[in-house]
Amino acid sequence: MKRIMVIDGGPRKNMNTAAMCEKFAEGARDAGAEVKVVRLYDMDFKGCMSCMACKLKNKATNICKFKDAISPVLEEIATADGLALASPIYFGGITAEMHAFLERLAFPWLSYNDYSLTAPKKMPVVLMETMNGTPEQNNSQGFGTKEMCIAAALGQPEKLVAYNTCQVKNYDNYELGMFSKEAKLQWRDEHWENGLQSAYEAGKRMASAD
Ligand SMILES: Cc1cc2nc3c(=O)[nH]c(=O)nc-3n(C[C@H](O)[C@H](O)[C@H](O)COP(=O)(O)O)c2cc1C
Repeated sequence: MKRIMVIDGGPRKNMNTAAMCEKFAEGARDAGAEVKVVRLYDMDFKGCMSCMACKLKNKATNICKFKDAISPVLEEIATADGLALASPIYFGGITAEMHAFLERLAFPWLSYNDYSLTAPKKMPVVLMETMNGTPEQNNSQGFGTKEMCIAAALGQPEKLVAYNTCQVKNYDNYELGMFSKEAKLQWRDEHWENGLQSAYEAGKRMASAD
């Protein structure tokens, strides 16, 4: 049975990013995979501590050796059959938690002998982003340079982006004058279910890939 890890880098349990993660997980489970969804905001961990333990002479390792709550997750990813990473876009990039997580995941991949990037195992990767921006008004660098590291170490990721998400359930209750409630709801009607379906299909594809 395939084992797939889904890392949710958003703080909200019942909103856009979490919904994309759940749909992806549902698709993968429906195709027979064992799926674990990890919510980074529920975990007490730090970004890279620069301890350099992963670069010790004759003891270099491509799994982070610093021990905290994220350590078992990093170990599980090392032997997984697939990985999905999801984040809302904050100030044009991934969240601080996702950033901290990727420091821990990817710094041990990087060799300071030759700048190569080597993960314990290659695997299919899906990157999911949710954001306020539309495809035309998009300030996002997404996963940025981390995407390049992921591509080199794990394999070229598939990307799913949910644009123009509803940031709140009820626009009448907030000072969000830049956004038209009607336009947001119309976009949601026209795109949101398709976005979820794409996440579901991506999960299914990952679980059923050879
Ligand atoms: C601190 C913060 C910064 C944000 N910055 C951006 C941004 O730069 N670009 C953008 O398109 N959306 C931005 N957003 C909107 C979120 O990316 C968007 O609402 C996302 O879908 C929220 O995900 P969630 O519903 O899973 O929490 C920001 C939201 C917050 C809270």
